[in-house]
Amino acid sequence: MRSVPGAGCLLLCLLPAILRAQAGGEAKLRPPPCQQSLTKVSCRAAELHSFPESLPQGVKHLDLSHNLLQNLSESHLPALGQLEHLDLCSNLLETISGPVLARLPRLHTLLLGSNRLHQNYRDNAMAFSALRGTEMLDLSANGLENHMVGGFLSGLTALRALHLSGNRLSQLPAGIFQGSPQLSELDLSNNYIMDIEEGVFEALRELAVLSLALNSLHCLSSFSLRQLQVLNLSHNALEIFGWEEGQGPYLLQVLDLSHNRLLFFPQLPAAHHLVHLNLSHNAITSLDPSSHHPAQFVLRYEEMASFNTSLGTAASLTRLAKLDLSYNCLQLLPLLFFRAMHSLLTLSVAMNCLQDITMELVTRDGDGDRNGTAVWQEDTALSVHSMDLHGNAIRALPHWFFDVLPQLEAIDLGSNSLQPCGSDMGSTSGGGSPGAEPCTAFHSIPHLQHLSLRRNSLTQLLPRTFSQTPLLSLDLSENRGLAVPWAVLEGLEHSLQQLWLQGNHMDNSRAEIPCLDELRVLDLSDNNLSLLPMGLFCSPLQTLDVSGNKLPALPKQALMRWTHSLQALCLAGNPFHCCELGWLDELQAAGVQLPDLHRACCIHHSITNRTAPLSSRPPWPCPQPWDGKLVLVLAALLGVLLCAGCGLCWLRGNRVGVLHPQPQTEREAEGGPAHSDTKV
Ligand SMILES: *[C@@H]1O[C@H](CO)[C@@H](O)[C@H](O)[C@H]1NC(C)=O
Ligand SMILES: *[C@@H]1O[C@H](CO)[C@@H](O)[C@H](O)[C@H]1NC(C)=O
Ligand SMILES: *[C@@H]1O[C@H](CO)[C@@H](O)[C@H](O)[C@H]1NC(C)=O
Ligand SMILES: *[C@@H]1O[C@H](CO)[C@@H](O)[C@H](O)[C@H]1NC(C)=O
Ligand SMILES: *[C@@H]1O[C@H](CO)[C@@H](O)[C@H](O)[C@H]1NC(C)=O
Ligand SMILES: *[C@@H]1O[C@H](CO)[C@@H](O)[C@H](O)[C@H]1NC(C)=O
Ligand SMILES: *[C@@H]1O[C@H](CO)[C@@H](O)[C@H](O)[C@H]1NC(C)=O
Repeated sequence: MRSVPGAGCLLLCLLPAILRAQAGGEAKLRPPPCQQSLTKVSCRAAELHSFPESLPQGVKHLDLSHNLLQNLSESHLPALGQLEHLDLCSNLLETISGPVLARLPRLHTLLLGSNRLHQNYRDNAMAFSALRGTEMLDLSANGLENHMVGGFLSGLTALRALHLSGNRLSQLPAGIFQGSPQLSELDLSNNYIMDIEEGVFEALRELAVLSLALNSLHCLSSFSLRQLQVLNLSHNALEIFGWEEGQGPYLLQVLDLSHNRLLFFPQLPAAHHLVHLNLSHNAITSLDPSSHHPAQFVLRYEEMASFNTSLGTAASLTRLAKLDLSYNCLQLLPLLFFRAMHSLLTLSVAMNCLQDITMELVTRDGDGDRNGTAVWQEDTALSVHSMDLHGNAIRALPHWFFDVLPQLEAIDLGSNSLQPCGSDMGSTSGGGSPGAEPCTAFHSIPHLQHLSLRRNSLTQLLPRTFSQTPLLSLDLSENRGLAVPWAVLEGLEHSLQQLWLQGNHMDNSRAEIPCLDELRVLDLSDNNLSLLPMGLFCSPLQTLDVSGNKLPALPKQALMRWTHSLQALCLAGNPFHCCELGWLDELQAAGVQLPDLHRACCIHHSITNRTAPLSSRPPWPCPQPWDGKLVLVLAALLGVLLCAGCGLCWLRGNRVGVLHPQPQTEREAEGGPAHSDTKV
């Protein structure tokens, strides 16, 4: 039996080598041929040095990208009167001769990205004057400099989309786009643009999408492109972004100002159409656009009254749905600022310096009874559905916080310093009783479905912390030393679907999970569990992570419950017993995916605690019950053999005893020398 798998393995080992040899031989003979269909030809990455000679007459779509073409001259090019789309990206093109392009009268898309057209830019530019009908031109990554671009565009009157990213532009001279007045999409990203001359975009009445991302712009003080719908200014060095006053509304819908150096929320006076505003990765310390004084870092309470005037800025943002203020330096989040943003759904203020969110909008002193709630009427409530506040220094949310956000469905409060209250302590939320740590109530929040309290240094949670909040997912990970007595999750038995308890250093006594009928996803990785919490066995788990614990085996009850529901299980980093792996067989038989099985090990306790990989069953024998039986059987067999041997001996002995003496006695009787007598 053993020689057969050996031979099979040998064949398997050799097979790839044989196949490779064959494939290599073929590849050397000829590069992969072009893929052809009726009107479409693709010779992508076919190691072509020149234009393919025979092409079907009616071809409309030709892909020659990723080849070695250097020179596009007349002699190489067959007449392709029907060609509409030509992709020559990633070749070595330096020269395109004039009459060549004239032979492609129907060409509307010409892709020339990643070539070397700067080499003969004068001649190449001349050749381009033949492209009167072309609507889309990709000239990205061609080493083009400021003075080269204008020439290329001078005759492209039909051009609608132009890609110039990854060139060497440092400046946009006035008139550069004069030849292409129909441009509606312009990508100038990833250049070195520091300076945009006035009126550069003036001729472009149709311009709707403009990317100036990844350049070196420092200041845009009077943005005036009212026709623009998408403007990408991310990854520049902007400290100021100002709009031109007066004269009708802007059509801008998407404005990406991320990764700049803005110190203040930009003034966006007439941005009535703005839907998506990205201000992440700046240095914004205040939401007050009128505070142009760098020293004025935080909005103070006295300023709240004058804040009313600056609300004019935010007031125009009635269609804003997504606002990203993450990675800035805000210390205070005055929710009144967002009041006019009736459409705001997603707000991120993650990774700022927010401390206690004191969102009272009236002065504190005196007016003891005027708490924040009074300011908020039904119609002033924020429409935000999803809020990200992770990575701040918030110790408590004010008690009216969730009242102001009645539609809130998801909130990420990870990496803060919050302490949840128990369900019976709601009134002390926010302020807390004097001397006590302030706590935040998470119960009775009508629409909240997703809550993260990851990394909040939580240790002790009180009973019914989340009761009457219809949570679907709860993240309590990375709270070292956290204890979850079963009453904590009381109230979530019929709603919770996903629970994260990873990296809490929980031992068996600290993880008491009640019966959660709906739980589908559970992460218990990196804890100190040697037993799975009993309550889990009634959950219809689909995804379970128990990696990095102290489990010797998975219990039978769990398997019986889960083999029908479980789809994936992570289990590496547990001291499983090599000789008790029946559970693993069951899981594999049930088709459960074990993505980290290759990293999992088991310990062989009978052989000086040696570990073995779980994926290949350990080669050492296990002291199992049937081993004993085998010994018995062997012993019995041995006994039988022995007896049989003895019996045989005895029998043989007797026969010898019977047969031998007879002749002797005969001889003795007949006399010894009888033989000699008869023979002689
Ligand atoms: C391009 O190819 C044509 C025809 O083979 C040749 O005459 C011309 O010199 C080449 N141009 C360059 C710049 O190599
Ligand atoms: C802006 O450009 C950057 C860099 O190209 C890109 O990563 C980002 O997704 C763009 N933003 C939008 C809103 O398209
Ligand atoms: C804002 O920009 C940052 C960085 O470019 C990006 O990571 C983030 O996803 C963007 N935010 C939104 C809401 O698109
Ligand atoms: C705030 O603005 C509203 C309307 O814009 C105005 O009626 C009110 O008087 C202002 N309040 C203060 C304190 O300026
Ligand atoms: C805060 O306002 C609410 C609603 O107006 C009110 O019921 C509550 O008593 C107020 N709290 C304090 C401390 O004044
Ligand atoms: C978890 O187990 C490790 C290793 O046995 C131990 O050092 C650590 O103290 C345990 N942590 C807790 C919280 O019990
Ligand atoms: C094997 O491990 C167990 C528990 O970890 C320990 O008690 C025992 O001494 C170890 N045996 C050997 C031979 O190392």
